[in-house]
This record gives sequence, C-alpha cells and structure tokens, in this order.
Amino acid sequence: MYYCFGCKKAGNIYNFLQTLRGFSFPESVEYLAKKAGIAIPEQSHFKKNENQEKKNKKQWMYRVNAFASEFFHKYLRSLAANDPRVQYLAKRGLSPETIKTFKIGIAPDSWDSLLIEMQKNQVPLKLANEIGLIKQKEKGGFYDIYRNRLMFPIYSHMGDCIGFGGRTLGDDKAKYINSPDSEIFHKGNILYGLNETAKFIRTTDQVILVEGYMDFMALYSAGIKNVVAVLGTALTPQHAKLIKRYTKNIVVLFDGDASGKLAAERSLPILLSEDLLPKIVVVPQGQDPDDYIRNHGNESFLDLLQTARDLLLFIFHDQFKGYTGQPTEKVQILQTISPSLKLISDKSLLRLYVEEIADTLRQKPSWVYEFLQTHQAQASVSKSPKKLTQVSHKSVIENKGLIDLSRVPNAELYLVNLALMREKFLSQLTDEEVLKQFSSQEVRSLLNKLQGSYRQKTNDFDKLTALMANEVVPSSSITQHLDRSWSQMDEVALEKFFNDCLKKVQEAHLKNLQKSLKEKMRSSDASQRQQHLEQFMNIQKTRQALNNTKDSN
Ligand code: UTP
Ligand code: MN
Repeated sequence: MYYCFGCKKAGNIYNFLQTLRGFSFPESVEYLAKKAGIAIPEQSHFKKNENQEKKNKKQWMYRVNAFASEFFHKYLRSLAANDPRVQYLAKRGLSPETIKTFKIGIAPDSWDSLLIEMQKNQVPLKLANEIGLIKQKEKGGFYDIYRNRLMFPIYSHMGDCIGFGGRTLGDDKAKYINSPDSEIFHKGNILYGLNETAKFIRTTDQVILVEGYMDFMALYSAGIKNVVAVLGTALTPQHAKLIKRYTKNIVVLFDGDASGKLAAERSLPILLSEDLLPKIVVVPQGQDPDDYIRNHGNESFLDLLQTARDLLLFIFHDQFKGYTGQPTEKVQILQTISPSLKLISDKSLLRLYVEEIADTLRQKPSWVYEFLQTHQAQASVSKSPKKLTQVSHKSVIENKGLIDLSRVPNAELYLVNLALMREKFLSQLTDEEVLKQFSSQEVRSLLNKLQGSYRQKTNDFDKLTALMANEVVPSSSITQHLDRSWSQMDEVALEKFFNDCLKKVQEAHLKNLQKSLKEKMRSSDASQRQQHLEQFMNIQKTRQALNNTKDSN
C-alpha cells in the first residue's frame, strides 16, 4: 500500500506504478511479476504455445541486448584515463555519473570482440543477428556491427534493453547506427531516456523533447532532467500517446535550422490531436541544444528555456514575412493554421487562440470562427457525399488537392494502415499485381505516394503517417493503426490480419471482374460468349482456391 503525504494519492502497488511510471495496469503486473520472478499464466488456451514462444523469444532478445550493453559498458570502464576515447567523452561533458546512469559504453575498434565474448558465453547468435548486433558474412560466420563507437543502450519505458544507438568515434560516414526494427524495437514508439526521466517528467509536469542523444545528455547533465529524445525520426502519434501518460505540457526543443523548424511544425497536429499543450524553444541559428549549453553555459540555457512560446502561435506568427495586410494574405495565413485549430477539443483554449489570431489579422473573432466553420463544412462534404452530386463532391476535394478516403471499403483502409506500420506490408501492397486489385483509385494513388516517399528516404519510414496526414481526408483514416489495440497486436496477429484483408480485396476484385464479364456476355455473339464463359469459370476457380486458403488459416 502507498500513501503520498504531498498529493494525498493512495493505493496499491499496481496503481502506484501506474501513477509513478505511467504504466498501464497490465504493464504494472508484468513489470512486478518479472521483478519477483513469477510467471504470468497465459489467458488464451488456443494460442498458448505460440504466444508463450513469442514472449520467450522477446525475453531472450532483451537478455542478449543486456549482455552486449554490459560488455560495452565494462569495456569503457576498463580504459585508462588518458585514452583518447575517454578524453573525448569528458570533452563532450559526459560525466562518470551520467555514464553509469545510462550505462553508456564503447564498442572496441575490432570486427569480433563482441562476437567472441558472446560465443564464450553461449549467447544465441541467431538472435544477436536478428537484433542487429552482428551480421552474417557471405562466406559464413559473423562480424560485429558496432565497431569503434560510443554506445547508448536504449530501454523501453518498462526498462527492458531493446536496442542501441552507436555514435562513431572515428570518421565513419554513418554518424549514428541505430538498431534495426525488430520484434522488440520500433523506432517510432520509443522515447530515449524515458525509463530514467519519467519520474522527473511527472514531478515537473512537463517534458522537454530533443532530437538527439547528445542533446539529451547535455540537458540531463545540466540538471534539466525532465527530458526525452526522439531517435532520428519525426515525432509520431505513438510518441505523443506515450508522453500523454505523464504530462500534457511539452516543450519541443529542436535544432535552430530549417529542418528543426520543419520538424516542430510537423509535430503540431500530432501533439494537438492528443490534447497536449505544445510549446517551442528556438535554439539560435546553427546550434543544437548541446552546442548551445557548451557555448553559453547552463544559466544562459535556463534563460533560453524561459522563452518557450506557444507552438501554434509561433507557427502562426512565423508566416508574416512580407505581410501587407491584404485579404488574400489573411486567408492564406489562416488556411495553413486552421487544420491545427480544428484539432483543439478544449473550447476555451480554442477561444484564446482565435482571439489572438483575430487580433493580429485585425479581424473580429467571429470572422475567424466563420472561416473555421466554412472549412469544417467543406471537410464534412466528403463525409456525406450522398446528398451531393458526384461532380460537386469531387471538385471540393480536388480543389484542395487532398486524397478523399471517406468512401473506401474497410479492408482497403485497414491495408493502408498496415502499410504504415511495417515496411514489408508497404512493399507487398505496392506490387503492381496487387495494387491493381484495389477498387479505390484513391487508395492506389495514396499507396503510390507512400512508396515514392519511402523510396526517396528509406530511413524515414516512421514519418510516413505524419507526412500523409495532411494530404488525406479524413486524416483519421490513416491514423487508425496508432490506436492501442493495433499497436498491441503481435507479429503473428498482424500478419493474419493483413492476409485476411488482402483476401477480401482480392475476392471483391474477382467478383467485379465476373460481373463485367456477365454483362459482356449478354451482348456478345456465340463464339465470344464461349470465351467469356471460360474466363468466368477460371475466375471462379481462383475464387474457390482463395476461399480454401481462407479456411485453412
Ligand atoms: P545530429 O547529427 O544532430 O547528431 O543528429 P547529435 O545528436 O547532435 O550528435 P553530435 O553532437 O554530432 O555528437 C541528431 C539525432 O539524429 C539521429 C540520432 O538520434 C542523433 O542523436 N541520427 C543522426 C541518426 O539516427 N543517424 C545519423 O546518421 C545521424
Ligand atoms: Mn550535436
């Protein structure tokens, strides 16, 4: 039992962890069971073995990572004080305490030191390979992936070691190597440092979001401990959901360059749709937070933090370059900000924004509300297309250049969402043969767009949802996969879901083909009819085959 004399909260061991660490109830149970060495019985009788195996595999993966992290950490601590690598760490402000707290390590400058250590200790190499610690050589055998790197082990908010970020200590072209996506590592829903800083975030009721490991370390060492870092990805809705468990107040502290600003802009709708209250601190041109602290000191940085400004208003005011007060300019400015305004569910907060915006544009608040309402009306046109003719419906959407997903069959929407979750699904769906089976032109063009963005920047897979969110209506149709129930599905369930949806789409496609053949047969001569009939029967066979695989699943 616990009772807090400060905030008067009381409860049992489970809701203690829920409050303190932001766990869900099942997470608390799991966490405690693990601490106490108690196995949690499986609920489902059917898939018992399969689930248990999955869980065991994950546990093993954590263990392999923990082994590696111990190895890197020990190696660092074994180095002499005058070793250039140790001196580099000191120069970058990483104190011995920080190194200990975050179990920072160094990967030796060698192709097989971790490998040999793992072999000595009978660590399963197959798993080490899967989680990206070693790689298979063409001629057989393995080699270490992380060589001569500063190693940051990455922990889940539950405290399991799920991966690594390794910064080069030499002149390797890849500044950082992060663990690849695997059963235990999904970059898009990990916040670096959260397992350690959750308590500070909760007590200060605020989180500071930075872009890099080094920024994280710099803030933490400067005594600003309510901080987390995204790992080389844009902020995702999963990140926002995770943050919301601890606090609503978030300060984005991105690099003072154009891409930092763009990242902050992209994060606004994501943060607002989770009811978070985002602020921004702009680090002066060309520096990241770490540089700033090094150049100007802690005090000056604390002053900088005090300049945090409302993110939405920051983006609004940022558009006034060259503004001369003309009506078209006012409308343009409002147009960029209105999608974000519409995401605000708190009416009184919205009113404050509207008043400030109206004031700046020298209009009445009612004018801003009217603008939002007419835009809302346009958006809802796509939701009730039946009342309107096809043409007017289309023109609204086309004018805004958006992809309208409001009338897409469910199975196709689910597939789009799955494609945003896993790269393998995206690549399966963009196969030409598969793509042409989709009934919806909108989905086809969206998948093409996704594939295009992904090809250009394969590292940005996690950003795809955020990138597309402003290009489709309703945007909620591509964020379904961020719901808890989706993200909790294991790989097997996801795969099955994917295959089921794909079969639905195929089935509908084949049915359609048959329908048009039937129509053709009505108006064709005898020989043609024979051909059509054969085609019809062939399709029938394919459909049967499809149904049979469905049953065996
Ligand atoms: P930066 O290039 O700004 O690095 O990338 P940094 O964190 O400031 O590191 P220092 O100060 O040069 O040592 C910011 C973040 O982007 C991710 C990492 O998470 C990094 O901390 N990143 C960067 C990668 O994942 N891969 C890269 O090749 C580069
Ligand atoms: Mn830096």
